Amino acid sequence: MIKVCFVCLGNICRSPMAKFIFQNMIKNANLENKILVDSKATSTEEVGHSLYPGAKEELEKHHIPITEHMVSVLEKDDYDNYDYFIGMDTSNVFHIKRILGEDKKNKIFKLLDFTNDRRDISDPWFTGDFTSTYQDIVLGCTGFLEFLKEENDI
Ligand code: 4NP
Repeated sequence: MIKVCFVCLGNICRSPMAKFIFQNMIKNANLENKILVDSKATSTEEVGHSLYPGAKEELEKHHIPITEHMVSVLEKDDYDNYDYFIGMDTSNVFHIKRILGEDKKNKIFKLLDFTNDRRDISDPWFTGDFTSTYQDIVLGCTGFLEFLKEENDI
């Protein structure tokens, strides 16, 4: 099983959106038995909360299935529990490395690194623009799935 952990600052907007979008892509590609998806926060700010309403509405607009979500915070011991840690922006990647320590197995990436446009994904909690975030996440997840298929021969 390939284990993927999407990571953002609060784990209420971008990383759970990426989790549900990627889970749906995996289902459509019949790879549910090969890839496991999770999401985590780099901050403790939103502990005890669930998916942000604007993120939920955007996913529903695109008919992406949503399951129960509660904020979970990335911890040092998680390094061995996942194969890939995918941050949404440069700051997330900085904090993932701060929490996990040295990336000996080259597991840490930024989502849009898997596209031709290696930007950060804007935080809709600040911008209010969930549609642009959704589109960027779909773009990144599409590239990431192609990368996973090649890398892992699936
Ligand atoms: P996310 O958005 O990182 O995409 O989940 C945020 C949600 C909450 C906060 C920051 C970003 N906050 O500071 O509480």
